[in-house]
Order: sequence, then structure tokens, then C-alpha cells
Amino acid sequence: MLGAVINLAYLLGALAFVLGLRRLSSPDTAKRGNRLAAIGMGIAIVATLLTPGGNGTLIWILSAMLIGALIGWRAATKVEMTAMPQLVSIFNGLGGASAVVLGGLELYRIVGGAQSVSTNEILILLLTLFIGGVAFTGSILAYLKLDGKVWDETITLPRHSLINGIFLLGLVAFMAYLCLFPAQLTTGVLVLFTVLTLIYGLSFVAPIGGADMPVVISLLNSFTGLSAAAAGLIYGNQIMLVGGILVGASGTILTVLMCNAMNRSLFNVLIGGFSASGGASKTASGDQNVIEVGLSDLAIQMYYSKKVMVVPGYGLAVAQAQKACKELDELLEANQVEVKYAIHPVAGRMPGHMNVLLAEVDIPYNKLLDLEEANAEFKDTDVVIVVGANDVVNPSAEDDPGSSIYGMPVLQVWNAKQVIVLKRSMRPGYAGIQNPLFFHEKTKMLFGDAKDSLQKLVSEVKNQ
Ligand code: TAP
Repeated sequence: MLGAVINLAYLLGALAFVLGLRRLSSPDTAKRGNRLAAIGMGIAIVATLLTPGGNGTLIWILSAMLIGALIGWRAATKVEMTAMPQLVSIFNGLGGASAVVLGGLELYRIVGGAQSVSTNEILILLLTLFIGGVAFTGSILAYLKLDGKVWDETITLPRHSLINGIFLLGLVAFMAYLCLFPAQLTTGVLVLFTVLTLIYGLSFVAPIGGADMPVVISLLNSFTGLSAAAAGLIYGNQIMLVGGILVGASGTILTVLMCNAMNRSLFNVLIGGFSASGGASKTASGDQNVIEVGLSDLAIQMYYSKKVMVVPGYGLAVAQAQKACKELDELLEANQVEVKYAIHPVAGRMPGHMNVLLAEVDIPYNKLLDLEEANAEFKDTDVVIVVGANDVVNPSAEDDPGSSIYGMPVLQVWNAKQVIVLKRSMRPGYAGIQNPLFFHEKTKMLFGDAKDSLQKLVSEVKNQ
């Protein structure tokens, strides 16, 4: 009877995961989706705790859960929006670490061949340990890189990608050997395999440009899912299997989508083909001059426009300028100016970054245009205001085959009547390359912190 209840609970949990995930695909339903998936996880945990067996361990499990929940809650509520990728990375890493512990403990039980196990079982255990280990140390290094605590140049060896390829082949051979000769699995060998796996995780992430970290984090996320699915197989736990597969599949899809949006292959990302510190072709600005715009001129121009398009980018997130943006939007709309937002799929530093920021200040979702929609509307737009975006509006992606971002779909803001760029300096963005848009005849610059500039613009518009 208890078995049937547990199975039913697992089924409900799995259903909640799938429906929750489905709802995450639209900002309108995302919050509910998140809650539903969390409820599913709650059901799964309770059902697992009801499973007979772990005599005397309940208090340990509950204590660990309480400590974990407190740390997780605090981290999630305190984190800045701009530091979200780092948080995701740490969470990923901890998932990987759990898989290492599970795989390691189960392998330890069969050390010396005391228990008879099938080759399949050993393979699954080794894979759990391996994938979890790579996800663990890889995510920790990704976190350190994203947080600016470690620089690519200091940890990359010459021909690093080749070394990684050989290292991986060596580990695969090691796993094959242990599957074929399980009696060779001693405690020392297990420790050696674990240490090598952890080092490989660091080495795997080392050559990848700090700038490509969001893609890597998504990939490591899918690894964590796969290791959880493998652990689900070990324990015959269906919910772990389903949850792991869902995480693995969604992480993989997200990785592919991000690569497509940047027009890069995953292989190119993994071998570190593009980094903030190098690899990018720097388009020389020569001695071209930029034209600056005055605040009151801009305010008048916007106030009497028919249509204004805002292009948010990473700088909007850094400046936390979304509230000022919304204020400007309301003032303009009150004067019958149509205001829309052009959202590039990789604007910012993580998927959906801009959508989340704009949703934070209740900018209606129907004002947000995706890349194709926005590109179709620029020609009817009077003023485009680029707020802390750079690479996603770089025309070199279309007309400079030598540029490292050549081929990446971009927002064609230059088709509008006027482009205003808000940024602090002439420094390049994430790709480390110059942007000819700033020197375009239709472009004017408004230098300064995006929030500060927008607040001043709001005051000027109020005076109209
Ligand atoms: P970026 O190209 O990085 O440009 C951001 C600009 O914001 C910078 O040029 C910077 O110029 C400006 N800025 C920074 N702080 C500012 C502040 N306080 N006030 C005003 N401006 C500020 O950003 P983007 O256009 O959003 O492009 C995103 C990039 O990230 C793309 O290259 C994309 O491929 C990459 N990427 C994104 C993702 C995801 S999923 N979003 C994943 C991987 C890679 P100043 O320093 O002069 O102010």
C-alpha cells in the first residue's frame, strides 16, 4: 500500500515538473510554473522520506535540508540580478558535488569486488561520479571567472584544448578498464579516479572565455541533470530520473539556443574560440568622431515622436535603470508616443535577462518585441534609444566578415530615423570589439551611467 502511495506521489511530482517547466516558457505564467515545480519537488522529497529503509537517518536528512534551505533562501533573496549567473553556477556545482558523493559512496561499497555487480551498474556509477565531478569543479571555476576572481590567461596552458581532448580520452579508457576489471577497483584507485575527474572539470572550463560563461553554465547545468538521472538509475528512483532528464534536456536546449543566437558552434565555445581578452577582431575606430546629444534636445525629440523603441542591454542591468526606463515610458505614452522594447535573445548576460528586468517594473509583456519583430519595425521608428547595449546592435555582425561576431543576428537599429546610445564611455562590450554604430550618421551618444542619464531625461521630458 505504502509503495503504491509513493509511486503515485512520484507520478504527481513528475507531472508538476513537466507542467511547471512548460509554464516557464512565458513570463506571464513563469512565476506559477516555478511554484508548481517547487511543489512537485516538495512532494518528491516527502515521498522519498516515507520510503522504508533509512532507519535513524531522518534527523540527519531533515537537519541537512534545513541548513540547505536556509542558505539557499538567503542566497536567492540577496543576490543582485547581475550576479544571477554566478548563483546558478554555484547551485549547479552543488548538484554535481551531490552526484560525486552518491557515486563515490556506492562505488566504495563494491571496492575489491566484495559485492557482485554488473558491468552496467559500474558504468552508471562511474558516469555519475564523472559527470557530477566535471559539473562540480567546472561550475566552481565558472563562478570564479564570472565573478572576476580568476582570469583566463592565468589558468590556460598552451594547446589547452588538445590537452583536454587527451585527458578526456584517458578518463574514458580508465572507466572502460574499471568496467572490464571491477576487481581492480581499490580505495586508492577510486580516490585517483575521483581526483582526476575533479581536475578534468577545472581543465574543461579553463580555456573557455570568461565571456562565454553563460553558455558553459547552461551546459554544466545539463551535466548536473544527467548525473542526477544516473543517480536515479542507481537507486531505482523514478522521480530523480525524470527530474534529471528534464534538467539535462532543458540545459542542452538552452545551450543550443544560446549558441545559435550568437551564431557560434558549441565546439567553438568549448575550445575557447572567443574571449573577452582575445580572439575578437578589433574594428579600428580610426579618428572618427562621435556626436553627442544634449538632454533637452533629446527630450523634445522623444516627446514629439510617434514611436520610440528602447533597446536594453547589459548596461541597463548594471545601472539598474529599469525603473527610470519605465518612468520615461509612462511620460511618453501619456503624450501618445508609442513605446516598445526590442529584446535581443542574448542581450545581457543570461537568457531572459532583459525580460526579467523589465518585468520587475511591470512593463507589459506585449510591449516587448523579439529580434525579428523589432527589425521589421525599426523603419517606422522615430527614435531608438540604446540603453547599455553594444554587441547586439553592432552592424559589423552583418557587414564585416573579419569581425568575431560576423553572422550573429543583430538588432538593425540603424534603420530607424535616429539612434541614441546611452553608455559611459567608448569602451567595447562583451565581445571586446569596436562598434561602428557609434560613428553612424544617424547616431548620437549620451554618455553617463544609464540610470542617471534616464533620470535626467525624465526630468527634461516632464518640463515639456
Ligand atoms: P555588451 O555588448 O556587453 O555591452 C554592454 C554595454 O553596456 C557596454 O558597452 C558598456 O559600455 C555599457 N554599460 C555598462 N555599464 C553601464 C552603465 N552603468 N551605464 C551605461 N552603460 C553601461 O551587452 P549587450 O549588448 O547586452 O550584449 C550582450 C553580450 O553578451 C553579447 O555579446 C552576447 O553574445 C553576450 N552573451 C550573452 C548571453 C546571454 S544568454 N544573454 C550569453 C552569452 C554571451 P561602457 O562601459 O562604456 O558604459
